[in-house]
Amino acid sequence: MKPYLPQVDPNPNIRKDELVKNREDYKFNHDYLAPIPVIDKVPHQELFSAEYTAKRLASMANLAPNMLAAKARNFLDPLDELEEYEELLTLLPKPAVMNNYKTDSCFAEQRLSGANPLAIRRIDSLPEKLGITNAHFQKSVGTESSLEAALKEVKLYLLDYPTLFDIKGGTSQNVRKYLPKPQALFYWQSNGLANGGSLRPVAIKLNNDAGTDGLIYTPDDPYLDWLLAKTCVQIADGNHQELGSHFAYTHAVMAPFCIATARQLAANHPIALLLKPHFRFMLFDNDLGRTHFLQPGGPVDEFMAGSLEESLTFVVKTYQEWSVDKFVFPTLMKSQNMDVPEVLPHFPFRDDGMLIWDAMHKFVTDYLQLYYKTPQDLSEDYELQNWARELVAQDGGRVKGMPERIETIDQLIQIITVVVFT
Ligand SMILES: [Fe+2]
Repeated sequence: MKPYLPQVDPNPNIRKDELVKNREDYKFNHDYLAPIPVIDKVPHQELFSAEYTAKRLASMANLAPNMLAAKARNFLDPLDELEEYEELLTLLPKPAVMNNYKTDSCFAEQRLSGANPLAIRRIDSLPEKLGITNAHFQKSVGTESSLEAALKEVKLYLLDYPTLFDIKGGTSQNVRKYLPKPQALFYWQSNGLANGGSLRPVAIKLNNDAGTDGLIYTPDDPYLDWLLAKTCVQIADGNHQELGSHFAYTHAVMAPFCIATARQLAANHPIALLLKPHFRFMLFDNDLGRTHFLQPGGPVDEFMAGSLEESLTFVVKTYQEWSVDKFVFPTLMKSQNMDVPEVLPHFPFRDDGMLIWDAMHKFVTDYLQLYYKTPQDLSEDYELQNWARELVAQDGGRVKGMPERIETIDQLIQIITVVVFT
């Protein structure tokens, strides 16, 4: 398929007819997961291929027998030791983190190279009502430094989850579920060598929603108290990651781009061709998530801490925080105060992410410059301008931070790079 901008396509009517049909096949629905726009009905061409279905099923083949073995194991000898949970993975591979998850260094490292690296940020001042004092700090870190000095030396990091506050907790099999509302303070301890050091937990406030009355724990507390405090952080982090960073910030925010691209850019439009592999199977996967995972009695209802309604409210809240300009990767790192390698030498998510971002940005730039050589190439591309307008529209993609008209190539490069990167 030879790529053409619509204004220079020798067969403009063919693409016009194709788009008329696509607009019938790809419709926005704003009610299923209101106010998040999703696909109304997944078109046939978006379904998983036979090959992908086979691979996906094969990857899950051990789940059911493993579950059966775990249930039998628990029936014969009910779990009472923490270590016994490790025996629940008989057929599935044991994750490496199982060996050291109880250590403080592993707990801190998960903030920097774990599943949810966007929850932590560097702070220049202590939040009001934090309640963690210099006494806590010196108990954890030692008396050579102080809380105030650590702040001045830009070495303090805060982990908190304010968007989880409204979740009171649902029930599972008639048992009440709980969601802790922790806040955790961390300290970057350099070891004197250039770029050497590690992140250390200073203290955890267990119930941040209780203000200054929150219970505070440090590594100096009895081993089990401290381990439970860390577990509360992991529970909050798991809920935040699964529904927020994962579902809202990838699945939910990308669907509008896929739908608008199918509706407004002909298949031989250079941008449609560029984005096609990145959208592969997404609409169907999202639809499976909506119809299987987010239903009453489904995995979100059962495994997440909140009631289904609370979890869905959290998804919407997180989705509404996303915008295409905020999620430009270097901008995002900066907004979390996590962007300077000299201040935080060890942050794999940032450093690996920047390598990928830069490579994609260069590729997208080179590619788009082949087709858009002058400002007219942009302004005369009526498909692209319709695409932008529909992405912003309330009856369309509702994408925040998106311009209604693409005026410059740099603007376009940035938007397309965010989509490819996400
Ligand atoms: Fe996913």
